[in-house]
Amino acid sequence: MPLQPPVLLDGKQLAQQMQDALAQKIQHLLPQVGRPPGLAVLMVGDNPASAAYVRNKERACERVGIASFGHHFPADVSQAELTQVIHQLNADERVDGILVQLPLPNHLDAEALLYEILPEKDADGLHPMNLGRLVRKEPGLKSCTPAGVMRLLEQYQLSPQGKHAVVIGRSILVGKPIALMLLDANATVTMAHSKTPDLKATVLAADIVVAAVGQPNLITADMVKPGAIVIDVGINRVQDESGKARLVGDVDFANVQPRSSYITPVPGGVGAMTVAMLLENTTWSYCQRCKASYNDETPTQR
Ligand code: GUN
Repeated sequence: MPLQPPVLLDGKQLAQQMQDALAQKIQHLLPQVGRPPGLAVLMVGDNPASAAYVRNKERACERVGIASFGHHFPADVSQAELTQVIHQLNADERVDGILVQLPLPNHLDAEALLYEILPEKDADGLHPMNLGRLVRKEPGLKSCTPAGVMRLLEQYQLSPQGKHAVVIGRSILVGKPIALMLLDANATVTMAHSKTPDLKATVLAADIVVAAVGQPNLITADMVKPGAIVIDVGINRVQDESGKARLVGDVDFANVQPRSSYITPVPGGVGAMTVAMLLENTTWSYCQRCKASYNDETPTQR
């Protein structure tokens, strides 16, 4: 067992600090550029989780001085209509970032839509060009959740170098990009997924566990090496005994926490960081597009 009590990795607090710094930066750039940064958010249907994320993102934009342009479509919107709106937003000078809230209804092809976003306005860092830049270690827009996880590790001076990181989940939103970022930070990385034969043995080998599946209680205490760093990317809505909805991650927090050295809570861990990175990406795009200096004092390399 770790000698020190486990430390909570406080994403909420770090995200707040990042938002304060961004608000100042935007305030400073506004007279120079003549307009605020702009973020367009496309949401389809009425998925309550997506609606909550979108509300959060819009509120956060308002807090730091980013103009948000919400586009809400009925669940049966066509691929052609969404494509057309993305093309309009690509051409809109007020818009520096465009994001399509995922997941989309089954009749829509999300990957095809992501192709349509101009890479320099790809606030979520999910366009093939930006994912390719990540593979090649070139500067570019980084996927928000993985970049947020890396920033949180940096904040607590938890270097992945020399550590064995096990990423559970292989989505393009989180699993694949975070595995690449950890690899570039000199971790030895294993990717586990639904077809991994012995998930418990795989996760038990990890110094850093990253759970990004979307399945409550997937990671239990018996799967975690004592002293491991546990990053819970899952945000799952469950009902407690009284029928009230609450958010839980992919990790059985109550039982895993005592075995860990550092662990992210849900909520208040990775989720808040995702939003902060989105705002940072949008502001970075704004600076690139307007030839203003981003003057980044933060440690993350772009
Ligand atoms: N759905 C859940 N998380 C995210 C995110 O970070 N970006 C987008 N676009 N959709 C999501």
